[in-house]
Amino acid sequence: MKKDPFINIEEAALLIKKGELVIFPTETVYGVGANALDPIAVSKIFELKERPHFDPLIVHISSLDTLKKLTKTEDARIKLLAEAFWPGPLTIVLPKSDLVPDIVTSGLGTVGIRMPDNKIALDLIEKSGCPIAAPSANKFGRLSPTKTSHITKQFPDFYSIIEGGETKVGIESTIITLNDDGFEILRHGIIHKDELEKIIPASKQKVIREKEIIISGMLKSHYSPNTPIYLKGETLPVDFKKDEAGLISFRGDDTEGYKYVKVLSQKSDLKEAAVNLFSALHILEESDCKYILAETVEEKGIGLAIMEKLKKASYQYKIK
Ligand code: TXA
Ligand code: MG
Repeated sequence: MKKDPFINIEEAALLIKKGELVIFPTETVYGVGANALDPIAVSKIFELKERPHFDPLIVHISSLDTLKKLTKTEDARIKLLAEAFWPGPLTIVLPKSDLVPDIVTSGLGTVGIRMPDNKIALDLIEKSGCPIAAPSANKFGRLSPTKTSHITKQFPDFYSIIEGGETKVGIESTIITLNDDGFEILRHGIIHKDELEKIIPASKQKVIREKEIIISGMLKSHYSPNTPIYLKGETLPVDFKKDEAGLISFRGDDTEGYKYVKVLSQKSDLKEAAVNLFSALHILEESDCKYILAETVEEKGIGLAIMEKLKKASYQYKIK
């Protein structure tokens, strides 16, 4: 009989304390976490995910006191952002303190920090007694998990998972960095530009990055299903047949003739569409369709985050 991969928060906290990995829910996607202050523990994340070491991790906290210890800044804007969006799906990239090991930040002088809006995640951080470094719990470059069946599919031999049901946001946190004149978005998410601008201004400049690094949030290809995926309106393979394809549809219009149809939001609500996006891609990836065809949405607000994922997912299959 197959071993039960699920554990409770107490067991998970003990594993984190011992320098082991745990997969746990957040409000965005499931993360695979380790004690952020223990470089050996963190190295196991890179190993499990087959993640290149140039790609820095996000550190999850449960209190602002920890933020002070992990960063080297007195920036008053952090408090405003934290009050407005934490706990929640916003990651802020800040100058790091010496406490944060280099492996977490891929040698950068900055660290991405967020306080997740999920009771299990917050309890786990509290009970572990340390900040938790955690990327999404998927193999590098593949689809992010929004429920535990997505995890057991990619990591059938991983036995330390906390069950937390389906995640409520469904796509990864918005990542921002703070320039002198305001914020700059590094990765789009559910918290979009207009919402951030209510708190602090958007930066007019592009940050001069301290090192030319490629970070996965910025890679062209990412979040990819194993089944070839194309965007509607772009060139399709010559042998493309609707009855062999799975359609990702926003509202459920124009769905005639496809083998499978996944509707992201009947009522055309982009927030709901974001929640359902990865899960729809997982279902089509697991199905016997030959291709996935995804409708596009206007690149505005949450539409920008959804299109960022779809463009990256389809990039490697794009017909040039
Ligand atoms: O919603 C989320 O953010 C999820 C959950 C688990 O919290 N985590 C997540 O982590 O999406 P991950 O590893 O899949 O994406 C982290 C990305 C990196 O690829 C990079 O783009 C950015 O965060 N990042 C982390 N630290 C950074 C830094 N110091 N400077 C710039 N970007 C950074
Ligand atoms: Mg990821």
